[in-house]
Amino acid sequence: MKRMLSGIKPTGQLHLGNYIGALRHFVEYQDEYEMFAFIANLHCITVPQDPKELQKNLRDCVALYLACGLDPAKANIFLQTDVRAHAQLGYIMCCHTYMGELNRMTQFKDKMAKGETNLSGGLYTYPSLMAADILLYDPDYVPVGEDQKQHVELTRDLAIRMNNRYGTLFKVPEPLVAKVGARIMSLSDPSRKMSKSDETNKGCIYLLDDLKAARKKVMSAVTDNCARVHFDPVSQPGISNLMQIMSSLSDDRPMGDIEAEFEGKGYGDFKRSVADCVCGTLEKIQTRYQEVLDSGEIDAALESGAARASVIADEKLAAVQKAIGMEIILK
Ligand code: AMP
Ligand code: TRP
Repeated sequence: MKRMLSGIKPTGQLHLGNYIGALRHFVEYQDEYEMFAFIANLHCITVPQDPKELQKNLRDCVALYLACGLDPAKANIFLQTDVRAHAQLGYIMCCHTYMGELNRMTQFKDKMAKGETNLSGGLYTYPSLMAADILLYDPDYVPVGEDQKQHVELTRDLAIRMNNRYGTLFKVPEPLVAKVGARIMSLSDPSRKMSKSDETNKGCIYLLDDLKAARKKVMSAVTDNCARVHFDPVSQPGISNLMQIMSSLSDDRPMGDIEAEFEGKGYGDFKRSVADCVCGTLEKIQTRYQEVLDSGEIDAALESGAARASVIADEKLAAVQKAIGMEIILK
């Protein structure tokens, strides 16, 4: 069985972009692949967090993994810090990453360009930790949204570099980025991606949003004055974004099919249908979320997930340390 691995940072609440770009694919693939889906709680502290809020977000994040359909009997769900090898291999990978490579990572570059101050060292070296997250498990594929592709590509470079230097240690993984929905845009500004750091709160639909609020966000989404439902992300970014949302939430319905249904109809009708799709999905997730939240399912899933992941990760870390010559071999 081929293996797949991915993670999500529990920085703030999970949103529709996370679901469409990442989470739904984890669920889709869990039958066909050996799946490792973790909560990246080391990555999320690369920016300041409020401890109480973080704790709540962590639990919510696991609950939402389960509520979206990840099944702990099939997928290994775990907290990054429960498998210590992540931080340990993360440091080793950091020592094999060039600063020039880290300087080219767009996430850090963007924050620097915006003039943000007091950026942490952890934020700068985060791609090395992400490489460790992946390489510990020798996955074949890493399903991610578009914004993470660059990090998976760096991971490949690092794997090849280490394999050349120390003999084959790692499988070189492939990023898996869907054709539709890998970059869901903000509803209030379709030139920016939908993100947890949306200050206005109008452009981002959270998976735990009240259904009425979610509907309102869709209905007030920024569109254009072309007056036709047509897929063209360059000249109609708002409409195309809504089409991507609709398609992704209805079994990857073809764009041509959506265009045909709304031919000659107004944007109001179209938005109402998109809102129905979004609210239908949220309602299902939220019902299951409520069931999961106070059950023992979260703890049980994390415990068994971390136990299974640790066996693989510890073995890989030991092999890497040995290959580098970091261990004293007892005579
Ligand atoms: P993050 O919330 O940054 O930890 O992202 C978790 C996963 O969701 C990653 O695979 C991202 O690429 C994906 N993701 C985040 N935002 C979006 C978005 N707006 N559209 C599609 N995928 C996204
Ligand atoms: N960096 C990813 C994000 O911000 C989360 C992440 C951490 C991840 N480690 C990973 C994703 C390993 C895939 C594989 O979205």
